[in-house]
Amino acid sequence: MDNLIRKAVIPCAGLGTRFLPATKAQPKEMLPVFDRPAIQYIIEEALLARIENIVLVTGRGKQAIENHFDKSFELEHYLKLRKQYKLLKNVENISELADIFYVRQKEPLGLGHAINCVRSYISNEPFAVFLADDLIYSEKPAISQLIEVYGKYKGAVLAVEEVPKEFIMQYGVIKPKK
Ligand code: UTP
Repeated sequence: MDNLIRKAVIPCAGLGTRFLPATKAQPKEMLPVFDRPAIQYIIEEALLARIENIVLVTGRGKQAIENHFDKSFELEHYLKLRKQYKLLKNVENISELADIFYVRQKEPLGLGHAINCVRSYISNEPFAVFLADDLIYSEKPAISQLIEVYGKYKGAVLAVEEVPKEFIMQYGVIKPKK
C-alpha cells in the first residue's frame, strides 16, 4: 500500500500536571520506560509506519526533548575515549533517527491549540497525531493499524481504549455509538 500518511504531529507542550512532581523540571515525554524516554518509542513507531516528516510541538521547559534527538558531541567524545563503542553507536543512532522539526506553542492552551500551531506545516495533507504519554505495545504498530482504517474510510480515525471507571478522570472520554 502507498504511504497514505507522510506527516506526524507530536504535541509535547503540555504541563504534565498528572505526573507532578516528576515533571516539575523535566518533560513527561522524557520519562524513561526501560532504556529510553517515552518520546523515543513514539518516534520509532512513526518511522516504522514510514512517516518521516515529524514535527514536535514543544513549549517552555521542553529543551530536554530537542537535546535527546540532537548530536551529543561531548558524550560521544568520552564514550570514544573509553572505548564504549556499543553505547556510542546507540547514542549516535538516536540523533540519526529522523529529521525532526520543532514548533513552539507559546502557552499551553490545550491539545487542539497545539495541533493548530502546525497547520501551515501540515497544509492540506492527512496527518497522524501521536500523544507521547500513551505507548501502545503491539506487533503491528498502532499507527499503522489506524492508517489502514483511514485508507478504508478516508476520515478522521481515533484510537480509543476502555479503562476502569476509577481511572476515567485521567483521560479524555468519548461516548461511542455501538
Ligand atoms: P495531556 O492533557 O495528556 O497532557 O495532553 P498534559 O496537559 O501535559 O497533561 P496534564 O493533564 O497536565 O497531566 C495530551 C498531549 O498534548 C500535549 C501534551 O504534551 C500531551 O503529550 N499538549 C497538551 C500540548 O502540546 N499542549 C497543550 O497545551 C496541552
